[in-house]
Amino acid sequence: MTTLKGLVLAGGTGTRLRPITHTSAKQLVPLANKPILFYALESLAEAGVVEVGMIVGETRKEVMAAVGDGSDFGLKVTYIPQEQPLGLAHCVMIAKEFLGDSPFVMFLGDNLIKDGIVEFANSFREREPGVCAEILLARVPDPHRFGVAILDDDGHVKGLVEKPKVPPSDLALVGVYFFDTSVHKAVESIMPSARGELEITDAIQYLIDSGARVSSKQISGYWKDLGQPEALLEGNRLVLEDIEANTMGVVDELSVVEGRVIIEKGATILRSRLRGPAIIGRGSVLKDCFIGPFTSIGEDCLIEATEIENSILLAGTTVDGIQSLEGSVLGKQVTVRRRQARPIANRLVVGDHSIVEIA
Ligand code: G1P
Repeated sequence: MTTLKGLVLAGGTGTRLRPITHTSAKQLVPLANKPILFYALESLAEAGVVEVGMIVGETRKEVMAAVGDGSDFGLKVTYIPQEQPLGLAHCVMIAKEFLGDSPFVMFLGDNLIKDGIVEFANSFREREPGVCAEILLARVPDPHRFGVAILDDDGHVKGLVEKPKVPPSDLALVGVYFFDTSVHKAVESIMPSARGELEITDAIQYLIDSGARVSSKQISGYWKDLGQPEALLEGNRLVLEDIEANTMGVVDELSVVEGRVIIEKGATILRSRLRGPAIIGRGSVLKDCFIGPFTSIGEDCLIEATEIENSILLAGTTVDGIQSLEGSVLGKQVTVRRRQARPIANRLVVGDHSIVEIA
């Protein structure tokens, strides 16, 4: 099997992030209690990649602490610091030495490919002569937020435009790209875009314009972190859709578990009804609750006398005596509880950019 190296992008500054990530890199925001980035690393390992260069930026400490040397994933990770977010093509440039003369797959750490990339890695390994890159495309409802492709009848890429106001198609460039060494010349030949970044889209266009062939594959089950709570809930649902039931924690005999629920080690469920798909994190305690479909409860949460559905709770959060929470995203160490003292008014202590909707 041809060796493919991996180039994982886990940098960025945080300017495009929502409040939930004030204390954490966006690639580490969990879907079904696992950081988005970990799904990418698992996909790479599954596709036979071993050596991974990981681009890290301002949030490098957290990313490095979470991923370590990569051995938990069966990978060997080399960190490549990027001082400023100068674009995806810039990432390829600074990874040149790491990549050497190996073909590689570049994987953006805030993108999720539900069914992995094994098939695409193999088709790139077996590519026809003359094909120097392979890109993945997904039909999206909002192509103006992505790079957009124009294809010829054979599925080869004719052209690409980055975030067009009037998209020529609804085929978005997914954040997974396969390249051979010809991309190195391409990234050195392009100029920064209007947003001041060296765009990988422009580098691919350069390859096409210089006569090389770029193949494309269409995928489904694609999700990208768009920095909105709704998008996060959607990603959470996408991952939970596929989980299998597994009870590693304690469920008392007064509780009922319906459908596919993962109850992680050390979680305790008392007098509650859980309806999957859902996941309850390690060390969390639930008393007198209803947990509805598409809910991820992180580690060490305490949920009491509450109904929650279609929501994400991060680690260490407490919810007590709330009749119903729906479509909610709660960060780490948040407390939401019924007020007992007079006056019975809503009392809020909420961080910057938060949203509170009271029924
Ligand atoms: C980048 C690419 C874009 C691609 C997207 C996928 O955009 O420039 O072509 O569709 O990743 O995540 P960015 O996330 O930098 O806005």
